[in-house]
Amino acid sequence: MSVHAETKAVSVPQLAQARSEGRKLVMLTCYDASFARVLDDAGIDILLIGDSLGMVVQGHDSTLPVRVEDIAYHTAAVARGARRALKIADFPFGSDPTPEQAHAAALRFIQAGAAMVKLEGAGHKLDIIRFLVEREIPVCSHLGLTPQSVLRMGGFKVQGREQSAAERLRAAALEVAEAGASLLVLEGVPAALAADITAASPIPTIGIGAGGGCDGQVLVLHDLLGIDTGHRKPKFVKDFLAEGGSIAGAIRAYAEAVRDGSFPDETHSYL
Ligand code: KIV
Repeated sequence: MSVHAETKAVSVPQLAQARSEGRKLVMLTCYDASFARVLDDAGIDILLIGDSLGMVVQGHDSTLPVRVEDIAYHTAAVARGARRALKIADFPFGSDPTPEQAHAAALRFIQAGAAMVKLEGAGHKLDIIRFLVEREIPVCSHLGLTPQSVLRMGGFKVQGREQSAAERLRAAALEVAEAGASLLVLEGVPAALAADITAASPIPTIGIGAGGGCDGQVLVLHDLLGIDTGHRKPKFVKDFLAEGGSIAGAIRAYAEAVRDGSFPDETHSYL
């Protein structure tokens, strides 16, 4: 069962409620109104208008070229298609250098129909999280393999394998929650570390390449449908179209597998 009643929109407090009741949160990226309708009908709890659109929609090699206008445009389209799922808009690279600039971008996303904004990293981002939350804008944090750090990381690499890096990640997870984030995406993290962070986290965690111990899962929609986007598919990606038989069937198969805990299994996790 999804976190929402049939006709009511998923709210921010319902995320914590789902966690406390042991119900997994099902999240997918979404970029347009038609898919938003399909995902909404399949009972997906959260739609992320991710900056992954730079790679799977715009054809770039990374998420770095995505602009605030792009996220606002796609958020408005998704909001027109989905009435029930909670919509999260992603801050693109460089759009949140100061709290004031982040707030201006966040207002555009909220006006476009988002109920929450997502930003990568901790450190100086903590002030931004506080600034937004104090102004009633719910925040989702994103830690681990943060794609906007691709230049520094020298590629898309699993994070937190060494003891010191794992400790930094544990600390950052607590800091973003303390700053006021309501949700935490953990990407590209060994499964055991993500499970530890989830157990210690006061807010729900959503994994992508972070094993089955998180409170929910997210995938990029194109990956779930087996679409060749021209990019290497990471280990955690599973094509659900084969077993689902149709696009709607694939979305439902993914939602069911997340909710019954069968996805991700060990073959789709970093151990
Ligand atoms: O932009 C995106 O799609 C994301 C997910 C991969 C979590 O940030």
